[in-house]
Amino acid sequence: MAGALSPQIRILPGGEHRLLTEIGRVDPSSLASYREHGGYAALERAVTKLAPSEVIAEIEAAGLRGRGGSGFPTATKWRAARDAAGDRKIVIANVMSADPTDLGDRALAEGNPHLIVEGLLIAAYAVGASEAIIAVRRDWTDAIDRLQTAAREATDAHLAGYLVLGTDTSIALSVWEGSGAYVAGEESALVNALSGDRGMPAIRPPYPAARGLHDAPTVVQNAETLAHVAWILAHSAEAFASVGSEASRGTKLVTMMGRVAQPGLIEVPLGTPLIDLLAMAGGGTGTTKALFIGGPGGGALDAGSLNTTYDYESLEAAGAIVGSGSVLVTDSETCMVDTARFFLNYSASEACGKAIPCRIGTKRLVEALDRILAATPRPNDFSLLRELSAKMSDTALCKLERLAPGPMLTTLERFPEEYRAHAERGVCLAGACRVSEVPPLLEPLSGLSSATDADHR
Ligand SMILES: Cc1cc2nc3c(=O)[nH]c(=O)nc-3n(C[C@H](O)[C@H](O)[C@H](O)COP(=O)(O)O)c2cc1C
Repeated sequence: MAGALSPQIRILPGGEHRLLTEIGRVDPSSLASYREHGGYAALERAVTKLAPSEVIAEIEAAGLRGRGGSGFPTATKWRAARDAAGDRKIVIANVMSADPTDLGDRALAEGNPHLIVEGLLIAAYAVGASEAIIAVRRDWTDAIDRLQTAAREATDAHLAGYLVLGTDTSIALSVWEGSGAYVAGEESALVNALSGDRGMPAIRPPYPAARGLHDAPTVVQNAETLAHVAWILAHSAEAFASVGSEASRGTKLVTMMGRVAQPGLIEVPLGTPLIDLLAMAGGGTGTTKALFIGGPGGGALDAGSLNTTYDYESLEAAGAIVGSGSVLVTDSETCMVDTARFFLNYSASEACGKAIPCRIGTKRLVEALDRILAATPRPNDFSLLRELSAKMSDTALCKLERLAPGPMLTTLERFPEEYRAHAERGVCLAGACRVSEVPPLLEPLSGLSSATDADHR
């Protein structure tokens, strides 16, 4: 389907393609095309043949964990919402991804929107929700068009709306456009924005699954997670669980970028070694130095860690996270301090301001990095980087604050000589340092996720 995806999104061969396979084959603007490829058989099976508890049991047997960053078991969240008191329940597809290093959710929304819709409707049925909302960034105009068309087509075909497929299940389906602010994708911030408040995170508990939008139990689920839901109900929990590592089952969309021969999107079984991910992107273009994994809240692994497997547990043990699913490859000509500053500055400019330690702390960290980069450090700048990061992590209201120091802390630990050379001698060991808003290797991405709508709504 030529032209189906924004030009920045390239799908690479390799890996175990499940979700990506249909992109390019299915016409994203046509329900008929989606159905020709087996679409909505999973929803039909769920609402006509399975009890909601059986749907949840299948998702549990598959071992599906949230792909939006936390890796939380999907079935556990659904069960909590289903068991929560109240007649009104709501499910939300989170298509807000503002992480400038992530292409996966956008590829799904533009390339196969019905897959997200189908997964969301299955989630609604399982949870007992009468409302299903697709929340999408307002600057992704193609994604919005396709999701709106998909929602309208699904409703017209009685796959959503009143008495779904002639059963006694009714699910009102709608599309909501929200701010592209990074924090607006955080689930409690998203719930606040949907209720008309500013999109700022809330103290939890209560979690949305217990009390969310309009005080109703609310399941917020990442777009890719929902796509996997539809796949699992169509192909079986066993097929899903048969790939991946022990604790991280199934496949994950990963955005490969930076100093690789072929930047783009791959789909890999969780548990795939990083070295294989690199090979699927055509290999490094230079001498690979570090991989920044997990976006602004992730961490940097050095080239000696390429045998680490890409899954929730291994990455966390190594100091990174799956996050939204990106791997930024750097080489000997990339300055680690400059790259860490880019991510930290992104988090600082995206901090919503509600938590003062986050708003002030991220800025103080950027200022300390700037002094180091300018070879004018204060005597305590290195201890400030570590101690302030630890305090922010302890007091964090949301994960933006807790994780923001990650790229800086991991590069400081693994490449201390680059920090020292900048601070003490004003020398960039990579020979390519440029204190900039967007380091050269990220420039192609800078137009993708421009931060930010000031109102966070
Ligand atoms: C700063 C920040 C931004 C986030 N942005 C997104 C996002 O854009 N999309 C998303 O699905 N989850 C995002 N999350 C994670 C959500 O809070 C939530 O965990 C997720 O939507 C739950 O769905 P899942 O269980 O399917 O992953 C973000 C979290 C944080 C801390």
